[in-house]
Amino acid sequence: MTPRTLPFTDLNLAPVILGMMRLCEQPELANTQALSHWLMQRLEEGFTTFDHADIYGSNEVERRFGEVLKSQPQLRQQMQLISKCGIRHQWQAPSDRVKHYNNEAGYILDSVDGILQRLGCEQLDLLLLHRPDPLQQPEEVAQAFTQLLQQGKVRYFGVSNYLPAQFELLQQALPMPLVTNQIEFSLLARAPLDNGQLSQMQLRGITPMYWSPLGGAQLFKQPEHPLLQSLTRMAKELGCTLDAVALAWVMHHPAAGLPLVGSFKEERLQGYRQACELRLSRLDWYELWEKAQGEEVA
Ligand SMILES: NC(=O)c1ccc[n+]([C@@H]2O[C@H](COP(=O)([O-])OP(=O)(O)OC[C@H]3O[C@@H](n4cnc5c(N)ncnc54)[C@H](OP(=O)(O)O)[C@@H]3O)[C@@H](O)[C@H]2O)c1
Repeated sequence: MTPRTLPFTDLNLAPVILGMMRLCEQPELANTQALSHWLMQRLEEGFTTFDHADIYGSNEVERRFGEVLKSQPQLRQQMQLISKCGIRHQWQAPSDRVKHYNNEAGYILDSVDGILQRLGCEQLDLLLLHRPDPLQQPEEVAQAFTQLLQQGKVRYFGVSNYLPAQFELLQQALPMPLVTNQIEFSLLARAPLDNGQLSQMQLRGITPMYWSPLGGAQLFKQPEHPLLQSLTRMAKELGCTLDAVALAWVMHHPAAGLPLVGSFKEERLQGYRQACELRLSRLDWYELWEKAQGEEVA
């Protein structure tokens, strides 16, 4: 897999990013030695970019990953680390009455300290605000980001799940560029094609990231669904896995986003490497769109 330079940065990211959200659901990777072995294999294959969030596994995902980095600090130089903050669950503070978002400066700064401590490293390559907080004050975010940059705790910044106007509102207050918007995009989540998220990234020359590009496991749960039948047929024709075809569908969009996949299984990961080489035809792309939509284009 050929790394991709993320515009506005000097980061060379893997063309398929490994999402860590489901790490605690993998019993075979529960101990540090097994996870360390798994990580080294991935690095050798070119999967060098890892996506975290402070809330994944109730903090446990970053902690387990950090155990590996603490035992083998040299691995940090071989990878790019992304994490996110801003979602506040009640398990984090039982006195909170409701789950909520918090993009206040103090909250961002404390969150990054927690992330770095759990990951056992001194710097994140990329910090994302996990969700748009309607109460967010852009100037406060600017203050927090500037401090994190000056302290060397974060190299680059971005957002996740922001609509174009929310992105612009924040960007105009920042002294540094937002370098990505991590959005949900898959055959089952096609809103970015129409809500301006992808067009805005193209206009600005920013590379989006696509979370749940296979729709979580949902895509594979209805074997009779016409979409799955088309994916299966194309996979046979192209000599690849059906996950690879579904991944190629999102990667085919000219916004040229980076998908974040959630599986830890080696056989699936091989398919994801294949997806980087696949080129769907226009008719293939529209056939999958039609099957997902349940109707032909107007
Ligand atoms: N920014 C955000 O708001 C946000 C939100 C959600 C996620 N994310 C990021 O995106 C990453 C990926 O999300 P995701 O895990 O939902 O991505 P995904 O790759 O769309 O889905 C992964 C799931 O699909 C299953 N799967 C894949 N191929 C399959 C097949 N051929 N047959 C049956 N099941 C199959 C996997 O099962 P197996 O485990 O059996 O392979 C796994 O449960 C997360 O780890 C996280 O980093 C970000």
